[in-house]
Amino acid sequence: MDIKLLYQTVGEEVTVKGWLANKRVSKNLYFLIVRDGTGFAQCVVNYDEVGEEVFERAKELTQESSLIITGNVIKDENQIGGYEIRATNLEIIHVAEEYPITNKPHGVDFLMDNRHLWLRSFRQWAIMRVRNRIIYAIHTFLQEEGFIQMDAPIFTGNAVEGTTTLFQTDFFDNPAYLTQSGQLYGEAMAMAQKKIYTFGPTFRAEKSKTRRHLAEFWMIEPEMAFFNNDDNMDLIERFLKYIIKDVLENSEYELSVLERDTSLFKEIVEKEFPRVSYTRAGRILNGEEKVNGRTTIEMLNEEMNSVRSDIESLEKEIEENEKKLNDSGLKKGKRNFLQSKVDSQKNKLRNLKKYEENLPSWLESAKNFQYGDDFGGSDETVLTRMFMTPIMIYNWPQDTKAFYMKKDEDNPELAKGVDVLAPEGFGEIVGGGERETDLNWLIEKINEHNLPMEAFKWYLDIRRYGAVPHSGFGLGLERFVAWICNLEHVRETIPFPRMYGRLTP
Ligand code: 4AD
Ligand code: MG
Repeated sequence: MDIKLLYQTVGEEVTVKGWLANKRVSKNLYFLIVRDGTGFAQCVVNYDEVGEEVFERAKELTQESSLIITGNVIKDENQIGGYEIRATNLEIIHVAEEYPITNKPHGVDFLMDNRHLWLRSFRQWAIMRVRNRIIYAIHTFLQEEGFIQMDAPIFTGNAVEGTTTLFQTDFFDNPAYLTQSGQLYGEAMAMAQKKIYTFGPTFRAEKSKTRRHLAEFWMIEPEMAFFNNDDNMDLIERFLKYIIKDVLENSEYELSVLERDTSLFKEIVEKEFPRVSYTRAGRILNGEEKVNGRTTIEMLNEEMNSVRSDIESLEKEIEENEKKLNDSGLKKGKRNFLQSKVDSQKNKLRNLKKYEENLPSWLESAKNFQYGDDFGGSDETVLTRMFMTPIMIYNWPQDTKAFYMKKDEDNPELAKGVDVLAPEGFGEIVGGGERETDLNWLIEKINEHNLPMEAFKWYLDIRRYGAVPHSGFGLGLERFVAWICNLEHVRETIPFPRMYGRLTP
């Protein structure tokens, strides 16, 4: 029986095969937290009910030992997962050696070194399931919209997103590069299939240790013939809303494990995503233009005041709870509960303080923004804070974007690109745009970007034989998962992250 299905078997006897996640003892009771891959459940082993032999086995179990447990299912809202198993029998499959990951806090490097085991933890388990649901929703949406999934090559002879982030490999004695994006191949396929998408690994040799960068990440890249950039933005908006709704409906439990406040998502799916030109975004940052009646400067000052008062009230709460913890009469169960509450409050306090510290530099950066700059991480945060939704920034200066972007007919200085910025500090999750179809302009661009013309000969053919307007975009899966799960870093969104400074396990 899968733990996930316990709700169907209340009052019945079931057998669960799994691992021991945690164990507590109290006189002649063992409280085992068992996980079976589909969920976590508390199993109570009572000496009076199972007898000495089985009780001894419970004693022998170490963390992560594998086992088979049989017992009666009861509903109990207060327990992990909402159900409990009252054991009638217990068999040991394998007694685990001393497990490195305990309930005590561990540093991130240690956890990353033990990623192969860390994946078993409650939060990591939940994140991987949300990732899976997002992938499922992506395929479902695109397939139902008539998109054809295509696999783009991973070994390539050319750069897509600039030459500075290429991983070079040896391809039968010739240089080849791991793909940065399947887009150029996607464009070719769109001329054969109309609407396609790639969903594959992509690689960027960026030596940056930010919370948003991986060296290997998964990208979903739809490409549509006969779409201009407005059609593209319509699609992006429907696509993102569909996935968010699907995850809200189907991953409620996992999101609650992650303590993800989903109220913002519920609002977002009902709102239009504002479409803001790059030029307007710059004016907003500078404080020259208001959004909802206030400037960035006013917004950041309000934010500063509200963060300060949040910090004060949280500090008071923590103080009171710590007083209660010092009371020696406190029962063990209550103490554990209160302690974990205090831990999570302290965590929240740390984050608030970090936020408070950052605010002045954000203000500085916003004020100093100059036309032609790309937006920095803090600029993205400030911009989305002004709207409290994802926003789509379109029509960028040519220099900030890749060679293939279509020029704006009214202002050839501008490229018809679009970036989607996620709120809550998560920044760019989607990059895309309309593609240039003018053969000569494109040849000029390839030269300007110092790209090898030879490698793009096939790509230029798309503009020679029945060129049509077409557009597309790339959604970075890990950045999207990080936002949905509210994670500090993308490293937790992928089973085995590859990033600057990490190739193992
Ligand atoms: O904005 P980017 O570079 O766009 C492209 O690659 C286009 N060819 C896509 C297209 O139009 N078909 O990357 C798209 C998205 C980013 O918005 C971001 O979410 C993600 O890919 N991304 C990364 N995610 C994790 N680590 C990195 N190093 C990333 N670089 C980009
Ligand atoms: Mg981009």
